[in-house]
Amino acid sequence: MDSKETKLTKKVYSASVNGEWKRLIKDSFHELEFLTTFSFLKKYLPKNGLVLDAGGGPGRYTIELAKLGYDVILFDLVAEHLELAKKQIKKEKVTNKVKNIVQGSITNLSKFSDNSFDAVLCLGGPLSHVHPKAKRQKAISELVRVAKAGAPIFASVMSKYGVMLATPAGWPQEVGFKKHFQNLVENGEDYKWRGNGYCHYFTSDELEKMFLKENIEVISKIGLEGLNVDEKVTNKFAKKFPEAWKNWLEIHMQICTESFVVDTSGHMMIIVRKK
Ligand SMILES: C[S@@+](CC[C@H](N)C(=O)[O-])C[C@H]1O[C@@H](n2cnc3c(N)ncnc32)[C@H](O)[C@@H]1O
Repeated sequence: MDSKETKLTKKVYSASVNGEWKRLIKDSFHELEFLTTFSFLKKYLPKNGLVLDAGGGPGRYTIELAKLGYDVILFDLVAEHLELAKKQIKKEKVTNKVKNIVQGSITNLSKFSDNSFDAVLCLGGPLSHVHPKAKRQKAISELVRVAKAGAPIFASVMSKYGVMLATPAGWPQEVGFKKHFQNLVENGEDYKWRGNGYCHYFTSDELEKMFLKENIEVISKIGLEGLNVDEKVTNKFAKKFPEAWKNWLEIHMQICTESFVVDTSGHMMIIVRKK
């Protein structure tokens, strides 16, 4: 039986399938998340092997990794995303590398044995849609359980200070809902995400502490969009000053692991290795 929060998540995501497919490439701001994530995937993934893309949505990372020669299993909560993923996987001619497409929640990966993946991804915020904290811990525990010893695990989530930085330009009216906004600031809890969805915003300290409860070592933490206050400003900058934007991207890659940047980016990623 789905919780209230899971029902909200399914509702929001099943209504935004095409938008989710385009999300990471739709403009320069969103490309920051994709390019930064991908550069760290390239740095820490083993040369080959079987990758679990948990909460992989319509499969953008699945397809890119399949093209690079990895075997991938795509896993997501929302059936509509997996339906679109099947079409895209076929279109991109990587069907032979995508070993399975499975529907379910990251809180229960019992369809997979212990120590079965050479790398595990949980990207773009799936952990932020799990409620309450004990279930988020269970999901983290599951991501680690199914990874082989020595395998890297990459998880990106929505950031509390990142969303607060974006509030004045993005959703100023929410500050007026005093109880709601106080709950976001104190507990990272948001029941107005994309209208009426559920999102938990993390601090980097909180995310790291939760992973450290498992049998892992932390490799890195990254602020995926870097220093940013407003996506419209970023997109205007990239369009109007392409040369400067190229330099900005280089600077971004130099500073995206600094703790201030990690905590204030819209999405933060943690990379850990199973011991
Ligand atoms: C913003 S999308 C990210 C998709 C993809 N990983 C990416 O980065 O483009 C978040 C995904 O998390 C999935 N999700 C949310 N809660 C989940 C859960 N409990 N278990 C598995 N997937 C979940 C959603 O269905 C959605 O596809």
